[in-house]
Amino acid sequence: MEAAGKEEISVEDEAVDKNIFKDCSKIAFYRRQKQQLSTKSTYQALLDSATKGKDSTKFQILNEATKVPLLAEVYGIEGNIFRLKINEETPLKPRYEVPDVVTSKPRTVRLISSSGDAGSLVLADGKGDLKCHITANPFKVDLVSEEEVVMSINSLGHLYFEHLQVPLKKRRRMDEHGENFNKEIENTKRTHQLKDKITEMRNTLEGISGLDDAEEQISNLEDRATKENKEDTSVDASQENQEDLGLWEEKFGKFVDVKVNGPASIGLDFSLHGFEHLYGIPQHAESHQLKNTGDGDAYRLYNLDVYGYKIHDKMGIYGSVPYLLAHKPGRTLGIFWLNASETLVEINTEPAVKYTLTQMGPVAAKQKVRSQTDVHWMSESGIIDVFLLTGPTPSDVFKQYSYLTGTQAMPPLFSLGYHQCRWNYEDEQDVKAVDAGFDEHDIPYDVMWLDIEHTEGKRYFTWDKKRFPNPKRMQELLRNKKRKLVVISDPHIKIDPDYSVYAEAKEQGFFVRNHEGGDFEGVCWPGLSSYLDFTNPKVREWYSSLFTFSAYQGSTDILYIWNDMNEPSVFRGPELTMQKNAIHHGNWEHRELHNIYGFYQQMATAEGLIQRSKGKERPFVLTRSFFAGSQKYGAVWTGDNTAEWSYLKISIPMLLTLSVTGIPFCGADVGGFIGNPEAELLVRWYQAGAYQPFFRGHATMNTKRREPWLFGEEHTRLIREAIRQRYTLLPYWYSLFYRAHVAAEPVMRPLWIEFPEELNTFGVEDEYMLGSALLVHPVTEPKATTVSVFLPGSNEVWYDSKTGTHWEGACTVKIPVTLDTIPVFQRGGSIVPIKTTIGKSTGYMTDSPYGLRVALSTKGSAMGELYLDDGHSFQYLHQKQFLHRKFSFLSGVLTNSCADKRGHHPSKCVVERVFVLGLKKQPSSVTTHSSDGKEEPVVFTYCTTMATLSLEKLSLNISADWEVHIK
Ligand code: GLC
Repeated sequence: MEAAGKEEISVEDEAVDKNIFKDCSKIAFYRRQKQQLSTKSTYQALLDSATKGKDSTKFQILNEATKVPLLAEVYGIEGNIFRLKINEETPLKPRYEVPDVVTSKPRTVRLISSSGDAGSLVLADGKGDLKCHITANPFKVDLVSEEEVVMSINSLGHLYFEHLQVPLKKRRRMDEHGENFNKEIENTKRTHQLKDKITEMRNTLEGISGLDDAEEQISNLEDRATKENKEDTSVDASQENQEDLGLWEEKFGKFVDVKVNGPASIGLDFSLHGFEHLYGIPQHAESHQLKNTGDGDAYRLYNLDVYGYKIHDKMGIYGSVPYLLAHKPGRTLGIFWLNASETLVEINTEPAVKYTLTQMGPVAAKQKVRSQTDVHWMSESGIIDVFLLTGPTPSDVFKQYSYLTGTQAMPPLFSLGYHQCRWNYEDEQDVKAVDAGFDEHDIPYDVMWLDIEHTEGKRYFTWDKKRFPNPKRMQELLRNKKRKLVVISDPHIKIDPDYSVYAEAKEQGFFVRNHEGGDFEGVCWPGLSSYLDFTNPKVREWYSSLFTFSAYQGSTDILYIWNDMNEPSVFRGPELTMQKNAIHHGNWEHRELHNIYGFYQQMATAEGLIQRSKGKERPFVLTRSFFAGSQKYGAVWTGDNTAEWSYLKISIPMLLTLSVTGIPFCGADVGGFIGNPEAELLVRWYQAGAYQPFFRGHATMNTKRREPWLFGEEHTRLIREAIRQRYTLLPYWYSLFYRAHVAAEPVMRPLWIEFPEELNTFGVEDEYMLGSALLVHPVTEPKATTVSVFLPGSNEVWYDSKTGTHWEGACTVKIPVTLDTIPVFQRGGSIVPIKTTIGKSTGYMTDSPYGLRVALSTKGSAMGELYLDDGHSFQYLHQKQFLHRKFSFLSGVLTNSCADKRGHHPSKCVVERVFVLGLKKQPSSVTTHSSDGKEEPVVFTYCTTMATLSLEKLSLNISADWEVHIK
């Protein structure tokens, strides 16, 4: 088929049509699990026969009704983590277990077991502070910390496990023919065991031909079985009139999902004792704090392309991280549900109740019922594999999660600058003009972006010859300004035998297959396309190789990549995505791994960029779809938002949620992708974006041009100022990303992380902290003349970073704002490193001087740090070429000292300016002291009314030890 016409495949400029997408009532496994709950069945753990393996303790769980045995395994993992796995003991065929997300094999710790009261088993970590208390009947697990039950699993009895079955008709046929059903099951299992063995052997003995033959035979057998099952199932469903339950077949509009493996759904409940505040499970256009879910209103985790998604909605959008955090004063917990199939999460909080005499009578009057939040996870298939992160502090939970899934990749410095994107910059001339526009208007920027129209008919890795006849020349232009280019590369590949990427992938069998065994075909930007099967390591290896300079004609080392439409988006597919019965590498159905498809594309892309530089340079890859662990491969953005105030506002909680679930490098399209923002909204969006981790302006086709200088001089000035503030703070941003990279500390932080004991911070989502020093409260209302800023912490002092005005913490202040106000406050006790001169792009600022903004605490002290390296290579890692400095201000002495002696990165940069906020007494003298004992006086300015001290024209080397004495 020829490429579909653009009209045909383009998306309308209007809000999302929700009928395209399912709500819970249309999801069969949800209906089944809910139905089951009403006829409560119980599970019993057979603890007497529990066995202790090398890494885990195993025991059987039996369902009273079905008697099908499940096998539970409990692991203790280094760093106060428990893992609970539940699978069928002998499934008909292997069930999908998510690979490649848990970084390396997490080190297990030996759990000490003892039997508790009759019918229970206690597994304790070495120190004995943490225990898993397992009750046999009904099966329940209590997580006990310091003798307090913090979490109970299956205490509501929602454990649900659909075991794989042979379709009913097949069973009947076998009965009729007197065939031995059990034997058939045994054979199937044997086939799978053999298959596993072959995979194992293949890993050690690559390429032995006998293995290939054997594997092919098995694959033929499986295909036959699959076909037979399919024939059988379609009849079953109608015969049994079980359509409603969607066991073997599920309809949605004109789409029919035929399930060869039948029902395979799983579910489990977790009760969090004393917790009322939960966060996480992105991605939803919702509040930061998770809400109670009503009937049929669960949070859905199913990666979908939702153009102009509705806000305050729990439908699944582009990415999924099946991980949530619960927080209360004194403890933070995490639940990481490692499952890549469609997942639903229900949340129900019962607040604490204090019974009073009149309500409940004298006994109850003394009781206070603790609050509790119940979380109910349901997934369409796979196994139960859940990690319990026991904290106790928020930062412990971040570390525990990062131990499992990795930390944020250290971004190249340029990627923290401003990015200019649009669908599309028309041609080379356009790129040149926009690039020049930034210089003319004295606005720094780092990266020019090209969307799908830069290619030859949406064939990625090619260039439209008319628009971009000389891509290298264009990149040289950008390189001369020390700028970069990002181009798009989507996972769908245009079906065109003359397109080498297609032809090669086709020949090698690198596409996802349809259930009939042919290549899956679906419509996306180029028209009819096939989709690369990134779950196959060979496909990833090949895809990575496409980024080498010789393979990617016209690319240079300043070109980086944007992966889009990787949910994957399939325009005419069910819910605009791939049919669940499409087949991936290893014969797995798409259903099993839908949510991890995009993760794999970004992984392969990042790897490709690393390889093209022979392992030397850090990659930059932006992805729209993501999963737990995507942080290792680059950045994420929040997709197709709208140019409305409400979308600006919701960008904050959406990014906070990503930030606490391990994905700190995130951003939202500045200006709003869809529609035309008025100047005021655009300015406010730049101001907010400048203080969010990934900072990119972007707009869809057919919107009016909106480069920063098109809205009149005053608005240009305001946007310039916002972007310049971003560049001023780059040393701070970069240092924060280093902390995210090495210690899993989020960059953009909800207030509750910094003030974990203060209840009134737990629900705040209109302001946040950047690191631990800056509090940002973006203006997100039109025509605002004031904003109410909550300044937390009873022992804190906060300084307005523009005016220097200060307030004591634990109060809400109403501050006046004009269009040029960005409400940013520096926390007393912090030192923030800045750049005092700004260049055209980050590349021009390597040697520019530093400044230190010192904000004194109530005790007159402050601390801060600075991390720097070459900004682009892996030398910081391999050669320890970095500089990590520590600043402290104590008793009138500002000290610069080494924070990490392993690092070496000589820098010519000097600290040129020091600005001290909150210095109550005018100094009589200020002197600098170098490490060799040299002392020099410094000219200073003190302002009595604002209590600020300003030191200018200093020349203190950033990498040397020195002191400034203020007497
Ligand atoms: C999707 C992306 C958007 C991009 C467009 C064209 O809608 O979310 O950012 O501009 O596709 O590639």
